[in-house]
Amino acid sequence: MVQTYIEQHRQRFLDELIAWLRIPSVSADSRHTSDVRRAAIYLKEKLAEAGAEKTELIETPGHPVVYAEKIIDPALPTVLVYGHYDVQPPDPLELWTSPPFEPVIRDEKIFARGACDDKGQVYMHVKALEIMNRLNALPCNIKFMVEGEEEVGSAHLAEFVKQNRNRLKADVILISDTALISLDTPSITVGLRGLSYVEVEVTGPNRDLHSGVYGGAVANPINVLAKMIAALHDDDGRVAIPGFYNKVAMLTDEERRALNLAPFNLDQYKQELGLADVHGEKGYTTLERTGIRPTLDVNGIWGGYTGEGAKTVLPSKANAKISMRLVPHQDPNEITSLFTKHFLSLAPASVKVKVTPLHGGEPVVTPTDSKAFRAASRAFEEVWGKTPIPTRDGGSIPIVALFKKELGLDTVLMGFGLDSDAIHSPNEHYGLINFFRGTETIVAFYRHFAAGN
Ligand code: BES
Ligand code: MN
Ligand code: MN
Repeated sequence: MVQTYIEQHRQRFLDELIAWLRIPSVSADSRHTSDVRRAAIYLKEKLAEAGAEKTELIETPGHPVVYAEKIIDPALPTVLVYGHYDVQPPDPLELWTSPPFEPVIRDEKIFARGACDDKGQVYMHVKALEIMNRLNALPCNIKFMVEGEEEVGSAHLAEFVKQNRNRLKADVILISDTALISLDTPSITVGLRGLSYVEVEVTGPNRDLHSGVYGGAVANPINVLAKMIAALHDDDGRVAIPGFYNKVAMLTDEERRALNLAPFNLDQYKQELGLADVHGEKGYTTLERTGIRPTLDVNGIWGGYTGEGAKTVLPSKANAKISMRLVPHQDPNEITSLFTKHFLSLAPASVKVKVTPLHGGEPVVTPTDSKAFRAASRAFEEVWGKTPIPTRDGGSIPIVALFKKELGLDTVLMGFGLDSDAIHSPNEHYGLINFFRGTETIVAFYRHFAAGN
């Protein structure tokens, strides 16, 4: 019995995940390059112990991909599990109650960077493989492809997928890297936003100046950048880049109604985030604003003096990092060039402006009429006692569109996180109940998928 097996091995499952979470696999920080590799090796070993037959660390120009497979019969269908073992940088460190790479269990949750995004969710799949293997219940073939560069834009993954088409042959992609509506209301993600991410630099004078001697006579790049950024939205909260909305797919009234049927409590949402009010594009609900509408946000802004006390300076440069979340059928490259053209046009003659694209990814909508989606739905019904609600998440997993394009494969986004898990934030955590129920749900998925009805 799956539940009995989980009960009996509960502590070991957690110990193994905790040991993995101790490895600071921060892909963005080159000081952690060897830690990222250590995390990959640890996963490879655990996949082998779980019963994968071929396990490999495949090199890329960046961090390695962990590949594993267990082929029980080439005539049976194959599920390709994708996830990522890299994590976001843990800063600001001082806001963590316990250190990000010293996992602790409090209130039935594991606190650590990567606990939910995505090591905790990947580890459910490793344990699901172990369970099916030990109980002789693996009903189809499994492949794993777990990358180490998701949090920095998966720069080398497109090439990897193209080079490994044969190895990656499968019938469906299964990913746990998204969130449920709540523990009471299971859901399956059927849409993810795309992304266009740029960095901008505004240059004024050729050196930092005394803000008294020159202030008022020379353009201050920070003042200019702030004004340019402010001009990127109109008073209705719409992105004011010409052409930005041209290709946005409009949902039918029926589709919008269905989307808004998902349980959502605005007061609770505000309270959880400490907000007096929400904000966004006029005419859309909060669920629509994150699910089906494109957006633009500044992710970071810097320049001038930010140290202790006051320094009177008119800086030479100001910078910002800006992300645009995209929806069907916006094209990330096209949006990046529309942004660039418009941003440059906003610049007064007193400054120079540079826009550097960092990365992008296409939005996706996954099918709900497939055998794999039905299997996921049944698995939730069985383990959670409720039919999961299809939802559109605001985050991005750029590789999903690539899987479709390069391998012709659809994805099932069967994630078990919660929006309150604080991914990318201090005190990231993952509920033990999410972990164990998730593992059980994954095992159930395979049974339903292989049964194929
Ligand atoms: N797991 C997240 C994406 C996510 C989170 C989807 C919650 C749905 C719900 C993923 O690791 C992530 O953070 N992706 C990045 C994209 C990337 C190119 C850096 C994102 O969405 O910012
Ligand atoms: Mn993730
Ligand atoms: Mn992430």
